[in-house]
Amino acid sequence: MINLMLTSCTSDIAPAGASDIPVNAHVADELHASLGAPQAWISPKFLYDSLGSKLFEAICELPEYYPTRTEAALFARHGAEIARVAGAGSTLIDLGAGNCAKAAALFPLLAPAQYVAVDISSEFLHDALGRLRQRFPHIAMEALGMDFSQQFELPARVTAARRLFFYPGSSIGNFTPDEAQAFLRRLRAQCGDDGGVLIGIDLVKDKAVLDAAYDDALGVTAAFNLNVLRHVNTLLGADFDIRAWRHRGFYNAARGRVEMHLEATRDQEVRWQGGARAFRAGDCIHTENSYKYQQADAVKLLERSGFEATRIWTDPQCPFAVIHAQAIPT
Ligand code: AVI
Repeated sequence: MINLMLTSCTSDIAPAGASDIPVNAHVADELHASLGAPQAWISPKFLYDSLGSKLFEAICELPEYYPTRTEAALFARHGAEIARVAGAGSTLIDLGAGNCAKAAALFPLLAPAQYVAVDISSEFLHDALGRLRQRFPHIAMEALGMDFSQQFELPARVTAARRLFFYPGSSIGNFTPDEAQAFLRRLRAQCGDDGGVLIGIDLVKDKAVLDAAYDDALGVTAAFNLNVLRHVNTLLGADFDIRAWRHRGFYNAARGRVEMHLEATRDQEVRWQGGARAFRAGDCIHTENSYKYQQADAVKLLERSGFEATRIWTDPQCPFAVIHAQAIPT
């Protein structure tokens, strides 16, 4: 039974330095609402504080987590053709840039006129861009620490011509299909008729492969998921006992998505500044969806959003698509 009550919590909000997301009323309201919802949930953007970003980097190294290496192999195998299709000299806008490694691997081929790295984890991003500037001093670079998942307006210092949005890693799958369409439409609104997207989209595959990718033997994905509670403790002054929760990650075929949840291992009450909630053993907090597309549906999604797929590169062994799509002129 859910017991949501307004109460004053004794714990203080931890220093903002422990999190990359500024502790503000908006974040607190958002978390308060989602933790208090009939089915408790936490937005996946809160998975990415500094430690979360590092854990995600570790996930990308796991043998079970196929998307990173499958996509990297597609970029390596087809890089020259991708660069030909996408065109050199673009304004390369890397959404969810993280450590910037994926874009950097394409620099020699894409030769962007300007590289714009965007990520919610701004401290991690600034460090990464600092290192990249030393390796590629001839490329103009900008770091934008922002949450681009909701609203998205690029500042004037981002060159308007030939914007190529780079959105690899199937991060689009972390939106619902409706949200994904709204997001891609926002990108379309931010690029002229000469712009486009280069996007990686994970495709439907065997449930066993998907289950293992999101619940690995080492428990790195479990740590990544559980870390969101630590982050929420910091942001909201909550007192989640991380040891009282366990990771769940599995493919829900009926909904076409992998789901991540945190399951309470015992009855407990969690308190935070301005609220509290009782959880029973077995109750879950939903933390992430990762939608897997059929290729044709991915192309339709782009079309509905104002982009036309010009070329698709896929891996027949492990279904995953890298798609270049250009803006449909308005
Ligand atoms: C960032 N995103 C595309 C990853 C995914 O596969 O949905 C996040 C992730 N969650 C668990 N493992 C990886």
